[in-house]
Amino acid sequence: MGYSTDLEPSFMLGTGTWSGSITAGRPHTHGMTRADLIDVNRRVIQAAAEAIRSMAPDAVVIVVTNPLDEMTVEMLRATGFAREQVLGMAGTLDSSRFRNTLALAAGVSSADVEAITLGSHGDEMAPIVSRARIKGRQLDVFLDTDQIDACVKDAVTGGGQVVALRKTGSATIAPAPASIELIDHIRGARSGPVPVSMMLEGEFEISGVVLGVPGHLGSGGLIAVEEISLSASELGALQVAANAIRQRLED
Ligand code: LAC
Repeated sequence: MGYSTDLEPSFMLGTGTWSGSITAGRPHTHGMTRADLIDVNRRVIQAAAEAIRSMAPDAVVIVVTNPLDEMTVEMLRATGFAREQVLGMAGTLDSSRFRNTLALAAGVSSADVEAITLGSHGDEMAPIVSRARIKGRQLDVFLDTDQIDACVKDAVTGGGQVVALRKTGSATIAPAPASIELIDHIRGARSGPVPVSMMLEGEFEISGVVLGVPGHLGSGGLIAVEEISLSASELGALQVAANAIRQRLED
């Protein structure tokens, strides 16, 4: 089942009940920030939400439209669904970019790298260095501080780099497997926590805003947030991201 607008095609992938990704919206193009898209894409999300609410009230919805965290809030509001049913795809995409840049810097395969990003899908992204591992070992076994900092920056700016190279459109290739990764968690083909944007209700001491955090997913969407231990600066980065997203929604 698909939903599309005249702005950009979108796709949905089905599972037992119904779950799908919403990519409809004006794409993030060069010279724009993701936040510049809030007003136009809010209307697209509202239209999609109306259709989903009436046709698939039990759906698990994965928002891919940018600005990701803000549009996930909008989808929650417009559908009136429980937070478990409305998730945002960013963490799987940004984490894959983080693993890739770490692998390149260390000269290993990205399969040898475990690393996630949390926070926003934007400038307030929080690549989690404290828990990242290369061949099971801490990053500083392979990389010096400057190299790690460069990898963090590369992960945070990765989407913008793709948009700058493409000039007239947003990333389309990497978001597909990153969305499928979430769908695989929902359909039970993968287990364990996965970074996903969701409405927080006190987890990590944050409430009332959508943010990327690790969550366990199943056929009804979110099962539970996994409150992994983070460094003080990483916890601080989540607070910064939460405040920035709140601010952008109020502007
Ligand atoms: C990206 C754009 C789609 O990160 O936000 O690829």
